[in-house]
Amino acid sequence: MMNTMIPEPTRNYLCLLACSATIMALALGCSANLDEYSEEVEESGTPDTVERRLLSEFEGSFPEKASPNGEMVDFEFAAIPAAVELFPETKTKVWAYDGRVPGPTLRIHLGQTLRLKFTNSLPQPTTIHWHGVRVPHAMDGVPGVTQSPIEPGDSFVYEFTPKDPGTYWFHPHVRGAEQLERGLYGALIVEDAKPDPYSRDLVWILDDWRLMEDAQIYDKFVTGGDISHDGRWGNVPTVNGRVQPTIAVKPGERIRLRLINSANARIFRPDFSALKATGIAYDGMTASRPFDPTGYDLAPGNRLDLDITIPDAPQEDTFQIVDRFTRQSFMLAEITIEDTDPILPERFDIPAAARVPVWAKVMDIPVDSKMVLNARRGGQYGIEWLINGLPWTEHESLRLKHRSMHRLQFVNQSYRLHPMHIHGMFFKVITRNGTLVDEPHWRDTVLVYPQETIDVGVVPLDKGKWLTHCHIQEHAEAGMKTLVEVE
Ligand code: C2O
Ligand code: CU
Repeated sequence: MMNTMIPEPTRNYLCLLACSATIMALALGCSANLDEYSEEVEESGTPDTVERRLLSEFEGSFPEKASPNGEMVDFEFAAIPAAVELFPETKTKVWAYDGRVPGPTLRIHLGQTLRLKFTNSLPQPTTIHWHGVRVPHAMDGVPGVTQSPIEPGDSFVYEFTPKDPGTYWFHPHVRGAEQLERGLYGALIVEDAKPDPYSRDLVWILDDWRLMEDAQIYDKFVTGGDISHDGRWGNVPTVNGRVQPTIAVKPGERIRLRLINSANARIFRPDFSALKATGIAYDGMTASRPFDPTGYDLAPGNRLDLDITIPDAPQEDTFQIVDRFTRQSFMLAEITIEDTDPILPERFDIPAAARVPVWAKVMDIPVDSKMVLNARRGGQYGIEWLINGLPWTEHESLRLKHRSMHRLQFVNQSYRLHPMHIHGMFFKVITRNGTLVDEPHWRDTVLVYPQETIDVGVVPLDKGKWLTHCHIQEHAEAGMKTLVEVE
């Protein structure tokens, strides 16, 4: 059974340093030149007019308010200890929403209101966070910020009307390094009011588990190794809670495939080149034009939606979907084509968002909030991960003005990966290391590579104190969290 396990990743470029002393020396380097850089920009531009132009480019990108149609969709489940078959005929003990991994897929239509009566039947407090969904502040699931943790035996009702259609997911925001790893995650799909007529709409939640020989979860969480490296990388990847599943489709089908990375730390880079796959949405939001998904990273938290047409007269009947993030590629899943007559799906154009600003001129306005990512010795785990020199317990909130144009900058001074996620808003990547990148889509999570600087543009439309953090659960646990206050 265990021969389907994949070895630990070699972590090629991530192995640059083994010793934390080097991390410290490099992480604590100074940022003076970055400050000079933003001052220069300030002098050369006329920020006011540029800002106004950027805002008008943004206008109409996504709605400020929800438009509830009066329909309520009720769900009810508990988070409970359970046992599931990641491998056929082998039980792995997990914690799971409704006893299943992944938890139930919640599907609603844009305009409908979701109401979930949630019960915590775990031995620990928990909450549910709706990753990527612009929810009212009180529904965001952040303990100590938007709600109190839900104690064992207690219930909580989450209720909100999503503002944006797309692929979202939910997970706990208490002891994430343990609770996500034990299997607590599920998909929330917000369909357009009139969904495109795909012959099939599939969700694949990608995860990886660190299992022992007996197929049970290795239960030391947030280890020194996890923290000083890129978090907990597992040895068993799963798709929808199964190791290397086979998915049967019919010739000629047109499929919408929604990929979600729910792993604690692993980055996936799934290779769909065996099939005709086009990127149509990222982090929930439809792109302004179709894009080539080749080489696209799917960091923890990220989603990628693909439009796939299965050949109607296939030469082969099996296609392997392979992960290529590390040097050691491995199969995620297999798609087989049934030996039946091709089906002829309705023809329709690839979905495209009416408006996603290019915003190249964001670089002409000054940086108004910088998030410097690095580490220091100390804290409960021996190493603390920091944003702007401070861990979560000492953090200073960043402030953004509601409905204003902002340029944020992530500066990774460390040699580790940091998929940075901001709650409550979508942002657009403008440059990587000063080079313009033209992503045709929004994001709520961006992977910041070692020593990389990323500039993003954002116009926050939702007021509140929003958590921002590294989505590598162990880095967040070791302090890499702060708040963005939108007022
Ligand atoms: Cu998936 Cu705080 O996020
Ligand atoms: Cu990180």
